[in-house]
Amino acid sequence: MRSRANPLLRTLAAGAAVLASLALAQPAPLRALAEQRGLLIGAAVGGALYDPLEPEYAQILAREFNLVVAENAMKWASLSNERGQYGFAGADALVRFARQHGQRVRGHTLIWHEQLPAWVRNGAFSREAMLAVMQEHIQAVAGHFRGQVAYWDVVNEAVSDRGGLRETPFLRAVGPDYLEHAFRFARAADPQAKLFYNDYGADGINTKSDEIYALLKALKAKGVPIDGVGFQAHLDSTFSPRQARMRENLQRFADLGLEVHITELDVLLRGAGTREERLEAQARVYAEVLEACRAVARCTAVTLWGFTDAYSWRAAAEPLIFDALYRPKPAYHALLRALGGTP
Ligand code: XIL
Repeated sequence: MRSRANPLLRTLAAGAAVLASLALAQPAPLRALAEQRGLLIGAAVGGALYDPLEPEYAQILAREFNLVVAENAMKWASLSNERGQYGFAGADALVRFARQHGQRVRGHTLIWHEQLPAWVRNGAFSREAMLAVMQEHIQAVAGHFRGQVAYWDVVNEAVSDRGGLRETPFLRAVGPDYLEHAFRFARAADPQAKLFYNDYGADGINTKSDEIYALLKALKAKGVPIDGVGFQAHLDSTFSPRQARMRENLQRFADLGLEVHITELDVLLRGAGTREERLEAQARVYAEVLEACRAVARCTAVTLWGFTDAYSWRAAAEPLIFDALYRPKPAYHALLRALGGTP
């Protein structure tokens, strides 16, 4: 019998069929492809996670990524202003979100010279006093998240761009062995977490990465509990991972027995040419970084420093893979292709 169904129902049914076919045509999200390849694909998460006006933020984060890191919420100054007083609400909410969506968590960061409470930054500490301050902080934070954070950036940016260890309150008070103490405190606070050294400007082979290589090799040789190294990869669209020999660089650290992560990837839109050309160049950099990681067996995670240009610490240069209206950019499709998906 020919349908006499009401036209509204017929329209709805036709609409549903169109939607279903669109859903089939949707490419698999990044995390599904990454999971097939045993890779973690992560994003740093900022304040918009619970903004009711921006539901896309949480939707995309849950759909595309299987790893999250707090852009700021786990930094010392975000957790504490006063010695011994910690507020974990913001960071706990992110850990909860990750659990609900089957995502791993990177912890960032325990010992860093920036975003420190004033009393740590400006205090005059003896070696013993500063070691106690570090131990208390690491115990409080890594202890709080024990079993929930898979990877900790234990020490961030300890090597100076001019060579040598960076002048920080920790180096000043303790001396160069503050690093190994930090790793030992972290191991004691959360024996299951994998402990990372993290830095920028060391993505390819250069004098800074040479220096970090020597530093980590010495730490390993001493039996310091360090499991991995993070390369931030704050790049721009004129950067060439191939020319910089990024794969080779990752491989030499892997050969020390370290797990390798790309931890803060973003790519500023820069250089000559039309906007389309710059977007393509940006996409190429994203793809090449991901390929460099995939070529190294111990490289297990690529984390982006955000995902939408609406929220980026360098938003003016549109460095991420979704635009400010949450539309995927060429860089998103390039990552899909680099993971073996179709555009
Ligand atoms: C940045 C955040 O993105 C900003 O929101 C904040 O104001 C400053 O810190 N290297 C790191 C990150 O390890 O923690 C920094 O994050 C970016 C550079």
